[in-house]
Amino acid sequence: MTATGEPVLSVRGLAKRYGAVQALAGMDLDVHAGEVLAICGDNGAGKSTLIRMVSGADTPSAGEIRLRGKAVRFASPQDALARGVATIYQDLALAPRLAIYQNVFMGAELTRRLGPLRVLDKKTMIEQASGWMAQLGSAVTDARRPVASLSGGQRQSVAIGRALRWNAEVVVMDEPTAALGVKETAQVLDLIRALNGTGKTVLLVSHNMADVVAVAHRVAILKQGRKVIDRPVAGLDADALSHMVMTGRQAA
Ligand SMILES: Nc1ncnc2c1ncn2[C@@H]1O[C@H](COP(=O)(O)OP(=O)(O)O)[C@@H](O)[C@H]1O
Ligand SMILES: [Mg+2]
Repeated sequence: MTATGEPVLSVRGLAKRYGAVQALAGMDLDVHAGEVLAICGDNGAGKSTLIRMVSGADTPSAGEIRLRGKAVRFASPQDALARGVATIYQDLALAPRLAIYQNVFMGAELTRRLGPLRVLDKKTMIEQASGWMAQLGSAVTDARRPVASLSGGQRQSVAIGRALRWNAEVVVMDEPTAALGVKETAQVLDLIRALNGTGKTVLLVSHNMADVVAVAHRVAILKQGRKVIDRPVAGLDADALSHMVMTGRQAA
């Protein structure tokens, strides 16, 4: 995907205070439709706090979140999801004993009429979930398989399948490769590309500059709750990015 000019998600003057700690100190950020935007910064820079605000997991102390230009307040992660912002948590929040399709449709199962009754529409859920797995380039396309039988990378695609089920516009991922080895990291990067290829906008928090160079179009670097750099990734390598994260200044 190439980004269009229109911001799908924006924050303006976004601030969050935890007691004496100013975790976010008035941030402006635009996430453009169709882009992969990486959020980088040292530990404590405010990355997860920003993600918690835009995913509906916590409420800002001040400032605004906008979806397609309209101010919104998310009551909960479920509310954010229903409005098009899906967040993939590091623990993936999957039920390993259940099938792929059951995880994808959890809490929002499809039903069909059977005479006077409504029953679960297992067939359609399996077909749709299998289709999304295929769209994401997963080798596992039989959505009846239990999640417990899948690798870490494949589990990520199930979690992302859930975002597709809700037809989310923006998919938010906080350090998706932090706990993964080389091979699984490569799978997750492929997954992010495939997801972006379906037209989704991706907001990716990452410590790994090689990952950022590999998949992101743009990078925002945070320092002490402020955005200090916001620029295209093109022309940068991992070393230049690391240097910018450390110093908070553009590479010379
Ligand atoms: N729930 C909380 N209570 C108190 N302080 C917090 C809380 N969450 C984050 N912080 C503080 O806010 C700052 C930003 O944290 P965080 O957003 O987790 O940074 P990052 O994800 O970039 O490492 C840090 O100083 C952190 O200690
Ligand atoms: Mg964090």
